[in-house]
Amino acid sequence: MEIRCPQTPQEWEAYYQVRYRELRQPWNQVPGSEKDHLEHLAVHRAAYLDGYTVGVGRLDSVDETTAQIRFMAVSKGFQGKGIGRAIMHHLEELAWKNGNKTIILHAREIALDFYAKEGYEYVQKSHLLFGEIQHFLMQKKKG
Ligand SMILES: CC(C)(COP(=O)(O)OP(=O)(O)OC[C@H]1O[C@@H](n2cnc3c(N)ncnc32)[C@H](O)[C@@H]1OP(=O)(O)O)[C@@H](O)C(=O)NCCC(=O)NCCS
Repeated sequence: MEIRCPQTPQEWEAYYQVRYRELRQPWNQVPGSEKDHLEHLAVHRAAYLDGYTVGVGRLDSVDETTAQIRFMAVSKGFQGKGIGRAIMHHLEELAWKNGNKTIILHAREIALDFYAKEGYEYVQKSHLLFGEIQHFLMQKKKG
């Protein structure tokens, strides 16, 4: 498996498709809703397996010492195989190398244990997405 930034227009399309399929389509959100206004400022990473985009994740800068992991998604048929963890580790390495001291994220309730296993601690309840998906702020400090 290779983890890197998408490069070609086709890879960028596949990257946003994984996001859309896993994080937006099941809640009947329109295509395009998987993107926000910070895409051009963020660090993007995709996991490639035999040429297929099987997982995605984004790293945002919050302030001088804090980064945020966002839009983590692994394609359904490939979940539970360590791909999400590998993307998290890759993004974390980048965050620490860039001088960050803390990484935050907003976890969906269903993914709380996934992030807890990666060493993220619960901070507080955060926003409700689409009126139904409760999110929880979690954080990890540089070890
Ligand atoms: C959550 C998600 C990114 C995890 O990626 P993944 O590739 O399936 O996870 P991994 O295989 O790397 O799992 C790492 C560990 O976390 C556990 N885990 C994975 N997803 C989990 C979940 N939803 N709840 C509890 N534990 C989970 C795995 O069992 C594994 O544990 P182990 O090391 O003890 O075996 C992925 O399942 C996904 O995209 N889900 C749908 C979209 C979503 O909810 N994204 C998160 C938005 S905040």
